[in-house]
Amino acid sequence: MLRSLKDVLRFKRFEKNPAQRRLNKAANIADLRTIAQRRLPGGVFDYIDGAAEDERTLRDNVSAFSNYKFKPRVLRDVSNIDSSAKILGTATPLPLICAPTGFTRIAHSDGELAVSRSAAKAEIPFSLSTMATRSIEEIHQTTKQLEEAQNLSPRNWFQVYVWKDRGLLRDLLDRANEADFEAIVITVDTAVLGRRERDVRRGFTLPPQLGIATIIDGVRNPGWTWNFVANEPIRFANVVGKSTDDGSTAVSLADHVNAQFDQSLSWDDIEWFKQHWGRKIVLKGIQTIEDAKLSVQHGVDAIALSNHGGRQLDDAPNPIDLVQPVFNAVGGQVEIFCDGGIRRGSDIVKAIALGADACMIGRPFLYGLGAAGEKGVDWVLNFLKEGMHQTMALLGAKHLTDLHPDLIETRY
Ligand SMILES: Cc1cc2nc3c(=O)[nH]c(=O)nc-3n(C[C@H](O)[C@H](O)[C@H](O)COP(=O)(O)O)c2cc1C
Repeated sequence: MLRSLKDVLRFKRFEKNPAQRRLNKAANIADLRTIAQRRLPGGVFDYIDGAAEDERTLRDNVSAFSNYKFKPRVLRDVSNIDSSAKILGTATPLPLICAPTGFTRIAHSDGELAVSRSAAKAEIPFSLSTMATRSIEEIHQTTKQLEEAQNLSPRNWFQVYVWKDRGLLRDLLDRANEADFEAIVITVDTAVLGRRERDVRRGFTLPPQLGIATIIDGVRNPGWTWNFVANEPIRFANVVGKSTDDGSTAVSLADHVNAQFDQSLSWDDIEWFKQHWGRKIVLKGIQTIEDAKLSVQHGVDAIALSNHGGRQLDDAPNPIDLVQPVFNAVGGQVEIFCDGGIRRGSDIVKAIALGADACMIGRPFLYGLGAAGEKGVDWVLNFLKEGMHQTMALLGAKHLTDLHPDLIETRY
């Protein structure tokens, strides 16, 4: 009796690392989101998770993927699935890019350093936001260390918001060039900041002000609070001392953006960038076929079909719905990235089958970071890769070149 009980009873070894313990309980990105929500103060979680106005675009970015069903082919050799691709002409094992996110250290003090390291380990590009909380030089240094220690080739991109102060912008481009950044990503959907009503309601500022509500929240979230106060203050690391708005005093994001960004930016300015940046250029925030065609005319290397994760214009088109029409219009002339709503490897497979060259993610790695720091970001990138491989195997596609629109049925 005791013997047979012993046969069926199996106690898992106790996991000593608390971040790993949390990750062991997660099965998907939604679980990580729940863990992050439990750990982060409400205002911080809402800054990451929230979007503009009624948040319809945020929801639809995700749910739009369910309008694309698979038509799996069977009895095809799917041993050794290969998800390798090219992004900006360079080989990568996974058609995925970490999108730029501002104020990343708010989720965890390792912030952009953790995300850039995870991306380098997964051999995919990492984009550093203009509003980042680690500088261009810090990213260069941390990924260079990985390069030397692990023989990796980190790919760092710099995301540009176009400041009114062109001198400051030129300085940022020079620094990115000096630090071997491969590309710039010009975000073109943020003439003014979208109305993010969760932040409005909470009076959220960057950095967060330690008011009474934050203190109460802090007591409820001791892990985050300790991490926040025990580390150096969070700043807009790329413009420290160079702008009156460098994050050393609390500002609302809307005030910051509306004061600093150039609202007169137009297609003619792309030429200015070409003069001052000799490497690859990505336009992020393209939302129509017409603007995709204009991007080709202006000679950029890639476009990111993106509505900023629903954080700007509510009721904007969902990126996955743009992929096929944009591919039909400009495919082969410019690389196409699908940015927004990716929560599973199968979503990436759908986007590639419809014509995208790669996908970008924002919130998924922020949930990972909030839940478990760098380990959490590693977990997300691995989860998406495994999900892609599994989907390709079940779909009868061994390589990305086997992914075609005829494997997808569109239900609209
Ligand atoms: C907290 C947060 C901050 C962001 N900051 C920036 C930014 O500084 N620059 C930018 O171009 N996009 C920014 N984005 C948008 C992302 O780059 C990306 O377009 C979006 O997150 C994709 O949608 P997803 O979150 O569903 O993956 C941000 C998104 C989030 C969630």
